[in-house]
Amino acid sequence: MTKTNLWIDCDPGIDDAIAIAACAASQDVLNVHGISTVAGNQTIERVTNNALLLTDFLNLDVPVVSGQAGPLTREKVDAGHVHGTTGLGDTVLPKTSKTVEPGNPIVFMRDTIMNLPEGEKMTLVPVGPLTNIALLLKVFPEVNNKIEKIVIMGGGTYGNRTPTAEFNIWGDPEAGKMVFDSNLPIVMCGLDVTHKSGLNREQVKELYDSDKKIQHAFGDMLNFYFDSPAYINSDLVHIHDVVAIIYITNPEIFTGQQVSVDVDCTDGINRGMTVCDLRHTAPEEGRNVTLLTDLELDKFQKILLDKLENL
Ligand code: RIB
Ligand code: CA
Repeated sequence: MTKTNLWIDCDPGIDDAIAIAACAASQDVLNVHGISTVAGNQTIERVTNNALLLTDFLNLDVPVVSGQAGPLTREKVDAGHVHGTTGLGDTVLPKTSKTVEPGNPIVFMRDTIMNLPEGEKMTLVPVGPLTNIALLLKVFPEVNNKIEKIVIMGGGTYGNRTPTAEFNIWGDPEAGKMVFDSNLPIVMCGLDVTHKSGLNREQVKELYDSDKKIQHAFGDMLNFYFDSPAYINSDLVHIHDVVAIIYITNPEIFTGQQVSVDVDCTDGINRGMTVCDLRHTAPEEGRNVTLLTDLELDKFQKILLDKLENL
């Protein structure tokens, strides 16, 4: 079976960290070409440091590039109340001597995509604000023909940062609009599906109680995440970003529908809203987005736990 060529763009971030771990555990089916970071959950310095620590900790030998320090036009706002000051809760990973690739990160992403062998394409997996991806598509439109699809954690038919906007898209609405308007094949792993996914307290405790350092560390991160204000009274800790990775390795456990999506770029109450056209009378053209709406939770949990156990 041909491996999926994958590039992950992230803002680690605890759920980003689990997504990177799932990538490390799936190298039998994923060819991970690199990681770019973007300011989001924490500052660009902190999320990039976390990406370097995580790839070293997981023995995931891939290049890391440090991307945009903020949105295209808006003020930067982080989510330190959910992911902690470092971005990985209170978990301290072993130090690393790994450094980011020198040079322009968007040029590095463009060159990596264009240098894929003839006939091969890249699957982009952005799980933070879409600033880097928007710049890549705008500055180097030639990549369009080398992109298989874009599997986004973001958006939804309702919000979490506001009642109508999800954090990643709210963080950089203009970038979100540029990506959704690209007409590339997009899979939207939004809150409609990520809020039906996750692990329960017992499953997180099993990870935390493991005598293996990697499993214990991720259990420690997930405990912090579970105890954050985002998950008060929740039975599940919604590990949003890893849903995008599990969709790529196991699409059969997901349900979705084809829609068109526009993004509210105003400064009004719906800033950053992904406006999904669900009308059955909506025109066929422009429905480039697969909106994921459901998953088989038991299978998702087994797949994720098996991946984390086998790291
Ligand atoms: O709304 C959830 C998203 O915002 C996730 O990507 C999480 O890491 C934060 O970036
Ligand atoms: Ca993220």
